[in-house]
Amino acid sequence: MASAEKYIQSKLDEREALGSYRSLRPQSELIDFCSNDYLGFARSPVLKAAIQQEIDNHPLSLNGSTGSRLISGNFNYTEELEKQIAIFHQSEAGLLFNSGYDANVGLFSSLPQKGDTIIHDELIHASIIDGARLSHANRYTFRHNSRESLEAKLRQAKGICYVVIESVYSMDGDTPPIAEILNLTEQYGAHLIVDEAHAVGLYPTGLVAQLGLVERVFARVVTFGKALGSHGAIVLGSNLLRQYLINFSRAFIYTTAAPFHQLASVKMAYQLLEKSTAAIDLLHQNIALFKKSIERNNIYPLLKSDSAIQCIILDNNEKAKQAAQTLQRAGMDVRAILSPTVAKGAERIRICLHAYNTADEIDLLTSTINNITNA
Ligand SMILES: Cc1ncc(COP(=O)(O)O)c(C=O)c1O
Repeated sequence: MASAEKYIQSKLDEREALGSYRSLRPQSELIDFCSNDYLGFARSPVLKAAIQQEIDNHPLSLNGSTGSRLISGNFNYTEELEKQIAIFHQSEAGLLFNSGYDANVGLFSSLPQKGDTIIHDELIHASIIDGARLSHANRYTFRHNSRESLEAKLRQAKGICYVVIESVYSMDGDTPPIAEILNLTEQYGAHLIVDEAHAVGLYPTGLVAQLGLVERVFARVVTFGKALGSHGAIVLGSNLLRQYLINFSRAFIYTTAAPFHQLASVKMAYQLLEKSTAAIDLLHQNIALFKKSIERNNIYPLLKSDSAIQCIILDNNEKAKQAAQTLQRAGMDVRAILSPTVAKGAERIRICLHAYNTADEIDLLTSTINNITNA
């Protein structure tokens, strides 16, 4: 009989040889240019105090939710929060999931059926791919942000068709032509679903709402672990969709609901977001400052992005790792993104900017990068 250990070792050796071995690292003391805490909510003492106050205001709340939402884990607080978040994002309804990963798997594994079609951008997040794989629908990818490629796939679609994009792509940081993609989607009678994980916060209610397209988008996924500094996610859409997911989404049905303190964190994070114009402005300023300083000298391409995610493409895993190490030695936490996470030849350093990064920190970052790339 074949040995599991041998298989495991050979796969790990393969990774090592490709220079793409992953390992967990302890918390870093370096300047943060890699977390998703775009507005500083995860480290905000104001938010921490508000969460504590909210917990204190609910002395009868339980430590754990005690069960799934359909058994014992549903509370008035949960449903109220769902309604509040839906209103904030101008949606008819919303359903909470325990993470963005769960939300996407829960949505895409349950909604499209055998004979239906899912068409997603080639750079779509792994959680959407995993959800789509669990469905029995036909699955097509289209070239990143390409309307022509999308249209070619729309022509082949059968059954009910769902087109899936991100409003800010997690690995490239760029934004698709949402309105044009939506027009095309509608032209073919398909339904658009937008993952807004990296857009909410930068655009407070998300990019779909900012563009005034809410009524025409079938569903949105918003996660709380990025700019909201918390954890969890919500699928936004119609009441009908919410009822469907409660009935059919296994990632919603077969899991323990989030505990009270998590819900309180999310509620307080949304309240803080409503008062965070200054932090949002700062984030936009820092993005502009980074781009202005980096574009002058850079010999490796900076991907086109107006978001907090900025990427410099180096040609291979080794160069990307070396660039990240140089930045780390200079005191900054910047991570290399290696193939196979991104395509071969698109290996990169991925920089996340935050409202709390200072101009001096950004200057250190850009001058160090400019030196690396000029070497
Ligand atoms: C676009 C996108 N969708 C979904 C997720 C998953 O969200 P979560 O981290 O809450 O599981 C992520 C996180 O990496 C993401 O970048």
